[in-house]
Amino acid sequence: MLDPESPQRKLWETIMLIWTIYAAVEAPLRIVFGYELVGPMVYIDYLLYAFFAIDILVRIRTGFFVDGTLVTNQWLILKRYASSWLIIDLLAAIPFDYFTHSWIAHATDMARVLRLLAVDSAKLFLLLQLIKFFKVHRLAQVLRGWGSSEVLNPGIMRLLFFGFWITIGSHWISCVWLLLGKANPDLDSLTNYIRALYFVTTTMTTIGYGDITPSTNVQTVFTMGVQIFGAGMYGYLIGNLASIIASIDIAKTHHLEKMEKISAFMRFRDIPLELQTRIRTYYNYLWEKRRGYDESEVLVELPSSLKMDVALHLNREIIAKVPLFKGASASMIRDLVQEMHPEIFMPGDMIFQTGDIGEEMYFISKGVVEVLSTEGNVVATLTDGQFFGEIALLLSMPRTASVQAREFCDLYKLEKEEFDSVLSRYPEFAAQVKEEAERRRGSPG
Ligand code: CMP
Repeated sequence: MLDPESPQRKLWETIMLIWTIYAAVEAPLRIVFGYELVGPMVYIDYLLYAFFAIDILVRIRTGFFVDGTLVTNQWLILKRYASSWLIIDLLAAIPFDYFTHSWIAHATDMARVLRLLAVDSAKLFLLLQLIKFFKVHRLAQVLRGWGSSEVLNPGIMRLLFFGFWITIGSHWISCVWLLLGKANPDLDSLTNYIRALYFVTTTMTTIGYGDITPSTNVQTVFTMGVQIFGAGMYGYLIGNLASIIASIDIAKTHHLEKMEKISAFMRFRDIPLELQTRIRTYYNYLWEKRRGYDESEVLVELPSSLKMDVALHLNREIIAKVPLFKGASASMIRDLVQEMHPEIFMPGDMIFQTGDIGEEMYFISKGVVEVLSTEGNVVATLTDGQFFGEIALLLSMPRTASVQAREFCDLYKLEKEEFDSVLSRYPEFAAQVKEEAERRRGSPG
């Protein structure tokens, strides 16, 4: 039994996609021009039927999902398949055209039956090609699967699908157009086809040069349909293009919108130019680092187990960088990761000053900060993986020094309450922090 999500099954889908596209393009051409297959085309046609037949077996052996559970019961799979596309798939896998050529030509009984039904074998042959054409449902199904798997950006996917259906739709409409009118006998099949495609394209895009016109009444009526459909489709495309393009990079669109809003606000409130530049620099840095996503906002909807896994993944860098976390137990890391919140500081920002009430400590993920004494001397320079702000929390006293960002700093903040609770639960961690705090307090500054 095959899993519909397995890579083998996906590969099969892709192979079938190619065969189905081939059938969807070739079958209408054969209906229109009624040509005989020659050379390698014959073998390709045999292969097509073989793949269509194997596809039925694959589908019978593939489970399906109900409410997230994989159903592998053979009977249920068959029942589901039978009530959907089984008949069409079976008919499409039978090489009727070979029967019509060899059997019907010789089987006089069959020929009589056909005559009685007022169907000649050529017409029957056309009809049978149409069955193959129904296999297109497979195409829609595979493309839908690709769409929902989000292998590509959904916006780009929508554009590609749209382009694909327009192309294949124009091909079909061109074939019907040829079927309904009189082909120019002075031109070969290829030229007739290209001219039909040209006519359909100019009509559907509402350009309509009018150099090619319908030659029969049915073709005229059909053209009216194509015109209405074309105008609708064209309007739909233009109407949706802006939103599709915006959706290609949702984060960027969101970021630009936000920047516009902020700029408007800053102009309205006469924010000094220098401050405006700093605000813009901050947002641009945020964009570079996080594509403008607020992690806590993204996480808030997830169930707690998923939230934890995502948090561990997002914070893996800081966990790897901080020497204090090296020997820590998995449970401590889990507790900490949930409590640490990212914060960004810009070059020159005072993170806090001597004498401030300390409510949090920081771990440096990236960047350099300077610890400044009351006189403004640099006591220490701290960088990736180091922490600061622990003394005020440990000893419940005001900040013993000021800390200033020297460059853009990505910090992780741990509030006092969480700091205390982690410390009480993990004495080894507490001992290490205390040791470092004492060493710092003992050092000059
Ligand atoms: P806190 O007193 O909360 O705020 C200032 C911080 O600077 C302090 O915690 C320490 O984390 C840090 N700090 C103070 N002195 C030193 C030092 N000598 N070396 C490194 N860091 C220090």
